[in-house]
This record gives sequence, C-alpha cells and structure tokens, in this order.
Amino acid sequence: MEEILDSLWDLMEGARNCVRGYTRVKSGEKVCIWTDRSAEVDPRVVEAFGVAVEEVGAEAFLLSSGSVIHRLKQPLQKPVLAAIKEADVLLSFQRLENAATIHNNDISALLFSTPLRNTAVISLTPELLASEWARFPAELLFFIYRKVRDQALSSGTDVFRLTDPRGSDLTGRIPYVYGFKYVEPPKKWQFFPGGEMAELPAPPVNGTLVFEQLEGFEGFVSEPIRLTIEDQWVTRVEGGDEARWFRDRMDRYENGNFFCEVAIGAHPKAPVSVGLKTRAMDTIAHRHSGTFHCAVGKWGAPGVEVSSDWHWDGGGLHPTFTLGDVVLVENGRLTALDDPEVREFASRYGHPDDVLAEVW
Ligand SMILES: [Fe+2]
Repeated sequence: MEEILDSLWDLMEGARNCVRGYTRVKSGEKVCIWTDRSAEVDPRVVEAFGVAVEEVGAEAFLLSSGSVIHRLKQPLQKPVLAAIKEADVLLSFQRLENAATIHNNDISALLFSTPLRNTAVISLTPELLASEWARFPAELLFFIYRKVRDQALSSGTDVFRLTDPRGSDLTGRIPYVYGFKYVEPPKKWQFFPGGEMAELPAPPVNGTLVFEQLEGFEGFVSEPIRLTIEDQWVTRVEGGDEARWFRDRMDRYENGNFFCEVAIGAHPKAPVSVGLKTRAMDTIAHRHSGTFHCAVGKWGAPGVEVSSDWHWDGGGLHPTFTLGDVVLVENGRLTALDDPEVREFASRYGHPDDVLAEVW
C-alpha cells in the first residue's frame, strides 16, 4: 500500500477531496468505479480514487465498459446497469464529452428512485486531479453555493435576467428545485470538480442569448451563435457554421429546441484556458465562477413535462446575472467571491485573496 501511495501522492489530495468532501463516501458503502476505457481516462487517476475510497473503509469495485452516448439518451448495456444497481455510490470516469451521466435515462431514473448517488469525475488527467480546481476544499465550494443561493433568495423574486456584452438579454424564472436548492454535500448527482448551479428555468422564458462556446466545438465559435427564445422554445438560430450545425441537430430531435437549462459557474479555480482546449465546454470552462451556460433538449431529471432524445449546451464567459436588485454575476465576476462571509470562511485555508483568486 505504501508503494502505491508513493506513486500517487500528488493525486491523493484531489481524490480525497472528492471522496470525502463532495461525495461523502462512508465506511461499508459499495463504490462502483466506472471507466469507459477511453484514452482520456488516466489509470493513475482511477487508482488514486480506488485508494481514497478504501481509505474511508468503503469497498471499491471496478467496472470497465464501452460507453453509450449519454447526451443522446442511449440506454445502458444490461450488465452495466446491473453492476451499477449493486452500488451505493457511482464514481464515473467517462471521456469529457460524455461525462454528464445525468443525461442517461437509466442512470437518472436510478438516482431519483434509489439512494444511489453519482459523482461524475472530470479531472481525468493527473494534471487536473493535482490542480487547484480539484484541491479546492469542498467545504468552501459548498459555502459559496449556499451564499449564492442565499443572495438569490434575498432578492424576493424568482425572475432572473441574463445579459452580456455580446447582446444576450434573457429573462425567466428560477424554481429553486435543482442547483439553487441542493447546496449541501453529497449531491445526488454532481461533477467533480464542481462549480455549476443549474436549473430548469420556469416560464415565462423569453429573450435573446448569445453563445461564445458550443458543446462539441473547441474554443470560441467562429461567429457568436444568437438564439431567439420565445415561450421557452428556441425559435431562431443565427451565426456561422456552428449555428447551422446546432440548428440542424435541434431539428432532428423531437422537442430538440426546448430551452431546458440555465446555469452559472461558481468555481474560481476551474481553468478556463484548459477547458477551451477541449470540445466539452460544459465540463471545465463553464464551471468557472461567473460564466454561464444554457441548454436545449431534455433536462437531466426524469419526469419533466417536455422530453427529448438529446441535450446540448452552449454558453459564454462574461454574463451579468441578476434577480431583481440582487446581482449574482457582474460582467463575469461572481459577486459571492467578494462577500465578507465567504472571504472569512476562505481565510481558514490561507489569505482569502489567494484562496479565492481566479484561475483562468
Ligand atoms: Fe447541460
């Protein structure tokens, strides 16, 4: 065991932060470590999580399978589903573009009908698992979530407005039933490292939204994608090649243009520059504090009124997000990071300017 720990020492702080802080794995629990055998998932990362699970007295078992595409609602293979049903906790390690297991209907049905909880690990490389993002204390991140939720509730309204310098101007309502409600660990479903507060917006949802990034495309899109949203449906998509690609895909799926997600990022250390080098914007870049992302198609939870066989995200880096007079994000700055209580809590870990300094 000591030899293993020697070779993994740089990864253990991050793995423990997930297992103990985010997922709250307890002694005696059965933890399924599920990998997709893709080259993106580093075996040392998986090994570090196995050690972290066993350190708390839980039992880790490895499930390795070819994966289905969760965003396109492909069903799980029967033996995979059977193995996951045996677990109390699912730690999923799927390539970044396929990391959001919540979009798999089999998994979301289990999450919402059984005690199973699923943490989708997106620090798949040793570099990311050793990063400030992965090592940022879970307690502090959840403190920030609670602060943002409290700020939002203090507004006395559920009507949000999202604007940005590229021309976004969208209004809708926050129902406080998902990311703005579940602000304590362990969440039933979450990314590790985390940083997003997402909701299925409630009507009326209307306005214009401009995407600078689109899931499936690396970096900034060649031309901003301008969406017109009327009564929670995307009725127009303007822009360049990526906009045409997006419109075409939306049209292929029933309810593919339903506006199903509004989210803000809350993690000061999510490395945007790393995220921009991937085609999975929704994983790293849009976890960063003060960013936004939105999606069309089916919302992740089961039982929502409008269903679809796909879910697709896009977003941007410098929104302003308000509820009444309360400003949650101002030009890409999450205001909670400047809150005195957040700074005081952060001072447990060092100087708050340093602990809360944003990593781009
Ligand atoms: Fe999404």
